[in-house]
Amino acid sequence: MKIILTFIVASLLSFSGIVSSQTHQKKMYGEEHRPQFHFSPPQKWMNDPNGMVYLNGVYHLFYQHYPDSTVWGPMHWAHATSVDLIHWKNEPVALYPDSLGYIFSGSAVVDKKNTTGFGKDGKIPLVAVFTHHDPKDQSEKRENQSIAYSLNEGKTWTKYAGNPVLKNPGIIDFRDPKVMWYEKEQKWVMTLATKDRVTFYSSPNLKEWKKESEFGENVGAHGGVWECPDLFPLTLNGNPYWVLVVSINPGGPNKGSATQYFVGDFNGSKFTPVNTKTKWVDWGADNYAGVTWSNTGNRKIFLGWMSNWLYANVVPTKVWRSAMTIPRRLALKAVGNELFLTSKPVKELDKITFPITELRRLKSTERLDLSGKIKNTGSKFKLLLEAKELADYSIILSNSLGEELTIGFDKKSNNYFIDRSKAGKTSFESNFVTKHTAPRVSTQRSTNLTLLVDVASVEVFADDGLSVMTDICFPNKPWESLSIVSSAGWIIDRVKVAGFKSIWH
Ligand code: FRU
Repeated sequence: MKIILTFIVASLLSFSGIVSSQTHQKKMYGEEHRPQFHFSPPQKWMNDPNGMVYLNGVYHLFYQHYPDSTVWGPMHWAHATSVDLIHWKNEPVALYPDSLGYIFSGSAVVDKKNTTGFGKDGKIPLVAVFTHHDPKDQSEKRENQSIAYSLNEGKTWTKYAGNPVLKNPGIIDFRDPKVMWYEKEQKWVMTLATKDRVTFYSSPNLKEWKKESEFGENVGAHGGVWECPDLFPLTLNGNPYWVLVVSINPGGPNKGSATQYFVGDFNGSKFTPVNTKTKWVDWGADNYAGVTWSNTGNRKIFLGWMSNWLYANVVPTKVWRSAMTIPRRLALKAVGNELFLTSKPVKELDKITFPITELRRLKSTERLDLSGKIKNTGSKFKLLLEAKELADYSIILSNSLGEELTIGFDKKSNNYFIDRSKAGKTSFESNFVTKHTAPRVSTQRSTNLTLLVDVASVEVFADDGLSVMTDICFPNKPWESLSIVSSAGWIIDRVKVAGFKSIWH
């Protein structure tokens, strides 16, 4: 009898355990403002993506994380993995702060040739290169570069006993190493943010580093400190180029944090830009510290932190703070005789889209109401618009509370824009309420626009990714209405709406 009773009680307990863990899971990614197809940490604070590397069919994403709070604090590297860049599995924290300091941003590489000697029994080491930031050190030398390695595909890590591997020469901001293998000279190249410029270093083994050159002292935007650089090759019509991406905070085109880039040449030692005009990867307010995945061959995939240091610590979410952008494929495009970087959502995103409607040759009658198409998407949809001629237009998303988010184009100023001033909660920070603009880069008559709308963000890719904007927003209810307002008589050749399935449920 006792045994039967114990069995019944145990079964009941474990059943309620299953139910409660399922409810917990549902609750966990179902909180107010939780992005449904963008990566966000299960809980607590997140900032920059770190150590992004592709290995044996798995995309690794590490990120700046403080597991004890929803505001920035002692930095760890948290870890998530994905086989498709869209669905993510949370893994245990990879790197904890230690006696040398917090674990700031950095990169990871696959050391295929075992240049480090960390590889054992034929196992190829994954090596993380990061900044140790010592909060106890008040001197200019508090940031130094260190390494750690993993022989089990990132599951567990061993910090190198000889850390730091690159000591600070006395530059207060000396961080965010992005390392790549420079095939031509069989050496590693590190691109490091060094206050108001980047410094390139090289190494045969990731342990001993030699300074090669500096770039940027008098070039590009300088409204803030340079952070999180990345240097990578891209080709255009068979011609090789090098792209240098550098985040800057503050000093972005729409206030606060943003990411600029330069196109040029790199000879293993020195970067020479084709042109020194400041260009921005993304003109919105919320795409910062983005870099590319390592070890993905010619396909360069970029991911940014979807927030801005102006308000990242106070955005109105409770359980966690912030999300990443959608991963984007980068390419080069020539417009006139200038080269621009284009960004497009990775094709894997199609896996979670389902078609809703496709309309052809619509003659605009001032207001085209597409509300029925998005009503039940729960603020998760993609909108594609194509037109042979460009006109002034506004795409207005709204809900029954009267909140609205407007995305559009203004012909007179030749700017795309996002206006989130009425898009829900804004009072947490005065700088949040602004209209952001991005100049149109394309000079073509025809145009296209892709919008990715999630619960708490909008990403705009105009003219095949030549003008890009990312903004977060906090509506108090999902978007229920969608309309396109334009000058009467404008012909939209195609409007396509697709829904997104949640990646969490
Ligand atoms: C960029 C940044 C990096 C630094 C990290 C600290 O957002 O400031 O320069 O390594 O965040 O969390």
